[in-house]
This record gives sequence, C-alpha cells and structure tokens, in this order.
Amino acid sequence: MMLENDTFLRALNREPTPWTPVWLMRQAGRYLPEYNVTRAKAGSFLALAQTPSLATEVTLQPLARFPLDAAILFSDILTVPDAMGLGLAFAEGEGPRFARTTADEAAIRALAVPDMNKLRYVFDAVREIKRALAGRVPLIGFAGSPFTLACYMIEGGGSADFAAVRSMACARPDLLQHLVAVNAKAVAACLNEQIAAGADAVMIFDTWGGLLTASAYRSFSLASMRAVLASLVPAPNGRAVPTIVFTKGGGQWLDDIAACGASAVGLDWTVDLADARRRFGTKVALQGNLDPLVLLADEDTVRREAAAVVRNAGPAPGHIFNLGHGVVPATSPANVAALVESVHRESRLIRRAA
Ligand code: CP3
Repeated sequence: MMLENDTFLRALNREPTPWTPVWLMRQAGRYLPEYNVTRAKAGSFLALAQTPSLATEVTLQPLARFPLDAAILFSDILTVPDAMGLGLAFAEGEGPRFARTTADEAAIRALAVPDMNKLRYVFDAVREIKRALAGRVPLIGFAGSPFTLACYMIEGGGSADFAAVRSMACARPDLLQHLVAVNAKAVAACLNEQIAAGADAVMIFDTWGGLLTASAYRSFSLASMRAVLASLVPAPNGRAVPTIVFTKGGGQWLDDIAACGASAVGLDWTVDLADARRRFGTKVALQGNLDPLVLLADEDTVRREAAAVVRNAGPAPGHIFNLGHGVVPATSPANVAALVESVHRESRLIRRAA
C-alpha cells in the first residue's frame, strides 16, 4: 500500500523531505490518560501487549492526538526472552522481573531460539496495526539488542549497574558470547516475522550497550547487532527494510556504529548532533536527540529546545527527530503537541532558508 506520509522512510534513506519527520520513543505510554484507561481495561501491561486489538488501540492513541510521522508497535523487548521460557512479569511500579534467570553455564547452554508461534501475538498486532493505520504513516517494528536482552536475562530484571553481566563479560566471555549468539538468532527471527507481517522499518534497542568497555561493546553488542542486521529479509514487496540501531550511551563509538550496516543511528541526548551530522551525515541517517526531561519544562522551553535540535541537525536530508530516550510518565501531552508542532515548523523554515 502507498503511504500518505512517507517522510520517515525517506529520511531513513537520506532523501529530501519537506519537513523533519518526528516520532518519540514510548510515544504510547503512561503520560497519556487514554493509555492508562486501556491498560486498566487490559488488567496489566503484559495483557495489553499480548492482546493485539488492545495493542493496536494504544499504538494509535498518540497519532490521534499529534501529527506524528511514524507509529511504533506497542510491545516490549522482553517478550523474546519470555518466549524462551524465562517467565516475564511486570510488578506494579517495579519494572520487569523474570521468574528464571540465565546466569550460569547450565542455564545458558540450555537456551534455544524459541518457536516464533509463541510470539504470534506480536505479529498479529503488527498486521492489525497496519490495517488500522490504512497507510497514513509507516509502522516501526522493533526488538531489543542481543546484549541488552542478555542483561535482563542474567540479572532477572533491571539493575543499577548490571554487575553480574559486566563480570561475566570479563570472567566468562565464552558464556556471554553464547548467550548473545542465541539471542541474535531469536531477535533476527522475531524481526523477520514483523517484516513479513508488514513493519515498514525496524529498530534495535540497545539500552545497556553503553555500560561496556569499548572492546566489550564491539565484541558483545555491536557484533551481534551486525549479525542481526545481516540476517534480515526484504519486505514482502521485495525492497530492503530500513533499520535503526540505538545504543544508549554509545556516543563515543559512533564511528563503529555508523558502519554497522543500519540505515540510521539513534543518538541519546549526550551526543553533539551538529558534530555527528558533520561526521556521519553522508553515511547514515541520524535519529534523535532531545533530552526527554526537557518535556517536563514549560511549553516555551520545549519549543526553544526542540527548534535548537532541528537547527543542530541542519537542513540536509537524513535526520529523524526523536528524544534521546523514552517519554517519561510525568510528561504533559500539551508539551508533546508543542514539540511536534515546533519540529515541523522549524524544519520547514530552515529548508526555506537553505
Ligand atoms: O516506544 C514505544 O512507544 C513502543 C513500545 C515500547 C515499550 N517498551 C513499551 C513499554 C518499546 C519500544 C519498549 C522497549 C523497551 N522495553 C526497552 C528498550 C528501550 C528503553 O526504554 O530503554 C527496554 C529496556 C524495555 C524493558 C522495560 N519495559 C522496562 C525496563 C520497563 C519498565 C520501565 C517503566 O517505564 O516502567 C518496561 C515496561 C514498559 N514497556 C512500559 C511501556 C509503555 C511501561 C509499562 C506500564 O504501562 O506500566
């Protein structure tokens, strides 16, 4: 199906667009009252993610409010280790917990790529969202990076420092490498099913790669993301699906990340976007990178800071506006409206001036 607004896909391919496309990580989430209503109806976050009709409903909620240039599948990166049998649960206000960890040799050697039928609810959601979008904007599919999934699988949940992961990286690199390799196959299979179901682009979330030393980042995180990218299939129409790699805290390794084979590199807010555009803008598209906490300020500040990011990116093709990480729950929807409006307005202005 032809898209009404394909600015996001054009920017990923570094083609000119009349304005800078914008979408936000966690654009469907707790800062939206209607999200909280649907989540209550579902009973839990996991039930919401596992019911395609409700996942579709919340995916579309931010698009009904704001003229965003892309939708992102409502799901979670931890559905893949859940399908591997780890037993995912979200305790109210506490974040994710696995019933079982894969922290020792026996558990890691016993892991296998899960049957993709266990994740059918994800692919069904992709199909249902595509139908509901009816070609308005593209749909982004996603998965966690093999290393970031390993972080949660080893610790059994979130952690302040992922100490067990970092010590395994130096004490038992063979074990961590095996875990990451199994995850890479599972992530590739999951993304390929999302592509077959209609995802127009796919993003790999590497939230914790930035915890590693430079050499450990290259060998455990970046290498496995490259393996995932190399195993992706074309879209049903035969075209390659554009890809985004986002390593939070990866700013020091942008040379390597920009060369990993992705169409775009996601940047967190610590990166100098103007500098990154000068260095990499002819090689890859860049996505980012407003500090999500700016959205907690007053509306004028939001407008000013959003416009500054657009100007730092400059008018050349290949920038997708986003936050440097997800929208936080305390964000006011009015500020998100101001943000989207000011990105569209400022980016049209700088194109006219260029
Ligand atoms: O971006 C989007 O709008 C798409 C949906 C999406 C969610 N999680 C929904 C979600 C995406 C892309 C993710 C990815 C994800 N999940 C990551 C990588 C990106 C990142 O944020 O760093 C990670 C590390 C996870 C694991 C995860 N899921 C955590 C740590 C938590 C709890 C933290 C929190 O905000 O409470 C979740 C839960 C989660 N995933 C929520 C949402 C909207 C909040 C759950 C709720 O409604 O209570």
